[in-house]
Amino acid sequence: MKLFNVAVVGATGAVGNEMIETLEQRKFPVKNLKLLASERSLGVSIGYMGHDVPVDVLNEDSFKGVDIGLFSPGGSVSQKFAPLAAASGCVVIDNTSAFRMEPDIPLVVPEVNAHAIKNYKNRGIIANPNCSTIQMVVALKPLHDVARIKRIVVSTYQAVSGTGMKAITELEAQVLAIYNNTEIEHKVYPHQIAFNCLPHIDVFLENGYTKEEMKMVNETKKIMEDDSILVTATTVRVPVFYGHSESVNVEFEKEITPDQARQILSKAPGVKVVDDPKKNIYPLAIHAAGTDETFVGRIRADESVPHGLNMWIVADNIRKGAALNAVQIAEILADKYL
Ligand code: A2P
Repeated sequence: MKLFNVAVVGATGAVGNEMIETLEQRKFPVKNLKLLASERSLGVSIGYMGHDVPVDVLNEDSFKGVDIGLFSPGGSVSQKFAPLAAASGCVVIDNTSAFRMEPDIPLVVPEVNAHAIKNYKNRGIIANPNCSTIQMVVALKPLHDVARIKRIVVSTYQAVSGTGMKAITELEAQVLAIYNNTEIEHKVYPHQIAFNCLPHIDVFLENGYTKEEMKMVNETKKIMEDDSILVTATTVRVPVFYGHSESVNVEFEKEITPDQARQILSKAPGVKVVDDPKKNIYPLAIHAAGTDETFVGRIRADESVPHGLNMWIVADNIRKGAALNAVQIAEILADKYL
């Protein structure tokens, strides 16, 4: 079996950590694993396959001899280092939003558009989509293939882990402060997140939407390769550690009943239908956390339009929404292209 030199950039972060774990769990054919982060992580080691691997400081020479780079260090770092890595022959799979909408860079969810991976040759970079978009398209593409989606209205309930380690710590600290009746501090979010919901993810844009909302609009069209799909989104941060939940309303061109949708989704790759509301069974973030599937439930007709469905879609934002999707792309690259 061919083995690959792999680098994880942002190895000490929430997504980077999960990437290392996912490489190990899925037995990715690693020859040598290089872990990279900022100088803040000097002296840190992370366990991989029973060994402690030291974290090195990312620099311009980090990618000599590296075949695949899994990046999650924040947009500006990727912007600088992904092209440098690609220039030295490393194929970059980048989890930031830095390159996602560039026309010659593939934006890939393997269950939906694995064929686009071949375009890694354009610039040596493949973009890993936004977490909320990944789980939505995994669930909607099989329905689109059968009944053609006209319009999607989505509202998200997103976990703090999507913001990174600092946000996980902030929610923990705020919950403790509330129980101990001490002062609540917030640094990561503009307001208290504990016991609250913030209709604000990423920055606000000129059109009144947040950047996160527009990522869902634009990335969905690019991954589904269909600009005619109309998408509108409201993205909300909620006090959940792991697992994004989404209320998704879809209007189709052709008729599709809830039973047909359940049938189609029960056979769809990466999807698990969890839908028995009379027994209180529907997807939950606490059940999705630490798993690989995208869970779909509460499938019901939207009775206000001719061909509409409502559903509830949940997945682990750090796994399928980030690390797992990136490693799945790497597996296809390794298997078919490198
Ligand atoms: P470090 O821990 O050394 O700051 P998260 O999204 O969970 O906050 O993680 C971000 C990841 O990106 C961390 O591993 C962090 O490393 C890394 N990172 C942030 N800035 C840089 C940088 N300038 N160079 C290299 N790695 C960086």
